[in-house]
This record gives sequence, structure tokens and C-alpha cells, in this order.
Amino acid sequence: LAARPLTGVRVLLTAGPTREPLDPVRFLGNRSSGRMGFALAEALETLGARVTLIAGPTALPAPRVAERIDVETALEMHSAVMARAADCDLFVATAAVADYRPVEPAENKIKKNADALTLHLVRNPDILAEVAARPSPPFTVGFAAETDRVEEYARDKLTRKGLNMIAANHVGGERGGFERAENALTVIWRNGQRELPMMDKTRLARELAALIAERYQEHHAA
Ligand code: PMT
Repeated sequence: LAARPLTGVRVLLTAGPTREPLDPVRFLGNRSSGRMGFALAEALETLGARVTLIAGPTALPAPRVAERIDVETALEMHSAVMARAADCDLFVATAAVADYRPVEPAENKIKKNADALTLHLVRNPDILAEVAARPSPPFTVGFAAETDRVEEYARDKLTRKGLNMIAANHVGGERGGFERAENALTVIWRNGQRELPMMDKTRLARELAALIAERYQEHHAA
């Protein structure tokens, strides 16, 4: 059991970006490649977990996980997660979910008649916060992507959203974060913290998975 500490644990994990349609041919998106999430899904599965991966659009090869559900928009990701949240023990939010979506996508392709174009956006539901606020929530792990004051903002997300753990990364710099093959994480929980230095996302995912398994077991032993 020591090698597979998550045997029997049902994991729900979001990964990749979301796409918010503007019209039939355009969308608002972000730079998430899905690499970090797919690597983490596989690493958790290797530790014995049964992983259901909810994936936004990516160009990655199929990961070795029990189940995979493909979605496109934040609202679709939200429904896919909420439909399964009651039946999972561990929820990991690696996805870069769009915070806003166009109020109503145009039915036809938007024409370039005007010199300027104003988009009206509305807030998307916060999937991670909603899962953590359930009556008997799963053990919940969030990510925080920040360009500055990484640890401070991550700590704020941990407490404000009521999470068990948060993995924070610096984005928008020369190394790590979105799209890249490597990344570094500051992992924070209520009474501890660990730095995982810059390394390949596959290896980083294994280290993070081991840390999650440790905290998960401690949480259930308490
Ligand atoms: O996919 P890669 O190219 O490998 O890049 C990896 C990554 C940089 C995308 C990843 O490591 C990462 O940081 N993922 C979280 C990105 C993000 O959207 O962070 P955030 O700080 O905006 O959101 C905080 C947390 O809330 C995240 O766990 C996010 O999944 C969740 N969230 C946010 C908004 C929303 N509407 N619903 C959510 O569940």
C-alpha cells in the first residue's frame, strides 16, 4: 500500500483551458496547454487513485487515466464537475478556467464594420469554490496562477475558498507556468508549506501527487 497510497480513492481533476465563444468562429481563451493537469492526473493514477479527468481543449496525447470527459467552455466544465462532485474523495483544479464569458455569443460571424468593438462579459461560476463549499466536500486542492505576490495571493485563495491545499505557480515569466515543459510550485496548506523547484512537469507532478497523498492521508487520520 505504501507505493500506492491512494488505492480506492476517487479523484476528479480539471485540466487545460476553457474556450468562451464570441461567435461561431471565435473564442476567448488562454495559454494553458493541459500539460500540468494531464501529468498530475497520471501521477495520481499511478499512486492507485481512480481518476476522472475533465479536460478543456488540448493537443496532448491521451493520458493513462480511468475516465476522461472533454469539455469546451467554463459552463460545460462546471456542469461536468458538479454532476460528479458528490462521488469523489479528492478534487484537484488544475484547469485555467475563464473568469468571464461573452454574455451571449453572436449567432453569426461578427463583421468588421466598426473601428472599435466592445465585448460584454459576465462572470463564470467558480468551480473550485463551489466544490469546496459543498456540505461534505471532498479533499480539495486548488492551483493559483499569479504574475506577482504569488505566495500572498495563493494564501488568500486557500482561506477565502476554503481549500485543503493550494499549489501556486508564477506565470508570465521566462520559465515555468503556461505552455512550458517545466514548472515550479509553492504548495501551501493550513499548517505547512513546501517548495517544489523548477523541473520537468512530469517529475513535478509526481512530487506534487506524493505530497497530496500525504496530506490526504493525514486529513483522514485526524
Ligand atoms: O496547462 P499548462 O500549460 O501545463 O499550464 C499549467 C497552469 C499554469 C495552467 C497550471 O499550473 C495552473 O496554474 N492552473 C490554474 C490556472 C488558474 O486559472 O489559476 P487562477 O489563479 O485563475 O484560479 C485559481 C483556482 O481556481 C484554480 O485551481 C482554478 O482551476 C480554479 N478556478 C478558477 C476560476 C473558475 N471559474 N473556476 C475554477 O475552478
